[in-house]
Amino acid sequence: MTDVLVSENIAGPAMDRLRQELHVAFEPDLWQSPEKLAERIVDVAALIVRNQTQVTAALIARAPQLQVIARAGAGLDNIDTQAATDAGIVVTYAKQENALSVAELTVGLMLALARKISAADRDTRAGGWRRRQFMGVELAGKTLGIVGLGRIGTLVAQLAQAFGMTLVAHDDFVDPQSEPVRALDVRLVPLEALLRQADFVSCHVPLTEQTRGLFNDALFGQMKPGSMLINASRGEVVDEASLIRALETNRLAGAALDVREKEPPAASLLTNFENVLLTPHIGAFTDEAQQRVVAAVCRDVAAVLRGQPTANHFNFSRPRLSDAN
Ligand code: MLT
Repeated sequence: MTDVLVSENIAGPAMDRLRQELHVAFEPDLWQSPEKLAERIVDVAALIVRNQTQVTAALIARAPQLQVIARAGAGLDNIDTQAATDAGIVVTYAKQENALSVAELTVGLMLALARKISAADRDTRAGGWRRRQFMGVELAGKTLGIVGLGRIGTLVAQLAQAFGMTLVAHDDFVDPQSEPVRALDVRLVPLEALLRQADFVSCHVPLTEQTRGLFNDALFGQMKPGSMLINASRGEVVDEASLIRALETNRLAGAALDVREKEPPAASLLTNFENVLLTPHIGAFTDEAQQRVVAAVCRDVAAVLRGQPTANHFNFSRPRLSDAN
């Protein structure tokens, strides 16, 4: 029997320590083969994934020994949490350990868009020295619209304040009178109002049925002409065909995507735009964030397998395996 199956590339000192205590099978490419994963899961007690392993109800049904699914990150959209809960399996995750890194990347992408850093770099490497072509704008005095004021959105707001930006946010689940919101000096507004005013729009919502395809033709049509979009949340929140149309018609002056509708993405017209920045879902990829993330999930996996309660659970802190199991 395998105690812990790791189906993506998740490593670090905490994982090495876990290996001293438990039998850990490290199979970083397994996520690419749902059939093999379905075979491997049968006698596994804990599964550790990032965002590429699809933990479906069908997979969970094949895992009678499974006590815990640990997600090395914050988003749970690749896990059927309802099926896990119904089967009495604990779902743990790293809900805040990488938030600062994602927020810092977001601000980096916003600066890179404002100052055309990526295009200027490409041109200079090719022998150019065209300073006027890379005239940019300052962040100071501009309005940043934050769609989703959770942990990451809040950190983005704090960082953007240091640049002298005006902040508006939209979040149906946040109380405008709550202490953190009041401390931020951010105005919570309806989405249409945010889109009308924001020079930069940054998206920080989870992927749900409500947010899938949220940024579509209609929404881009409401954005301030010449504004720019940053998305470091989930790729499926932005309809890429609509984004291309918004860039072609110059409704948007630029976009930075750290996440894509499909990952890894297929060939896309987005690569033809000088004013588009594309990065490979690296928001959480800093040494510090990964150490914290791996430490958090390894700690919780070990806790479950020792019969102790977890710290970061989504459903319950100990397995409640049903009679069927
Ligand atoms: C997250 O959900 O925490 C980030 O997108 C990073 C990841 O998926 O690994």
